[in-house]
Amino acid sequence: MSVNKEVKRVTTHTLQSMKDNSEKISMLTSYDYSMARIVDDAGIDIILVGDSASNVMAGHETTLPITLDQMIYHAQGVVRAAKRCLVVVDIPFGSYQGNSRIALDSAIRIMKESGAHAVKMEGGEEIKESITRILSAGIPVMGHLGLTPQSIYKFGTYTVRAKEEEEADKLKQDAKILESAGCFAIVLEKIPAKLATEVAKSVSIPIIGIGAGGDVDGQVLVVHDMLGINNEFQPRFLRKYANLYDTIKGAVDSYIKDVKSNDFPNEKEQY
Ligand code: KIV
Repeated sequence: MSVNKEVKRVTTHTLQSMKDNSEKISMLTSYDYSMARIVDDAGIDIILVGDSASNVMAGHETTLPITLDQMIYHAQGVVRAAKRCLVVVDIPFGSYQGNSRIALDSAIRIMKESGAHAVKMEGGEEIKESITRILSAGIPVMGHLGLTPQSIYKFGTYTVRAKEEEEADKLKQDAKILESAGCFAIVLEKIPAKLATEVAKSVSIPIIGIGAGGDVDGQVLVVHDMLGINNEFQPRFLRKYANLYDTIKGAVDSYIKDVKSNDFPNEKEQY
């Protein structure tokens, strides 16, 4: 399957017709201009400015500390780079839970100050009012169910979610709620593949999986993980497409050696 780079700009409607035509949707995170340029040039359908920036960019243990201002800063760089893909930005922890007015203000700030095209929010029924309010302002919303890292202290661990019937039933109901509220797509994170397939078949909107098996409408990964920049993170669902940790470290090792030995700069590398 070749990437159609002629598409002017991927929209939520493009994604819906991809699902309708059984064309898989590709999505990766990016958090800055330079990475987003490469990812967009390659023809990705969606860039997610994920709150995983809290982990991979800032070095925090969880996604909870990142602020709305910091998410907007990351999104601004990505939007400047992205010519073709749809840019979706996570509304961070503390900027929407429990108050639909605050949720709307946060979504409006993201759209106005970064120029992004949509927002993503974690949760089901409990955030329905916020989703409805944001959608009523004309802002597209992507849902996120299953392992929702903003609730990590409620879950206690990052293990697979919805293995038990009760939680699986709630997830299926939540997917229906998000669909009828008007979400344009849903991310399903780290749940049994069979359950993800069932959800993808039961709703008409695209289901994008991460650790949710192959029988859904698209896949998302954290770009630092799939490029092997981040060496410590090795979950079963992750396929590494490069080992940039070793490549970058090797280049830095050589640079240090060249500086110390006075090999760099040489005569051609000076004025
Ligand atoms: O923040 C993020 O990177 C995400 C993806 C894992 C889906 O939400």
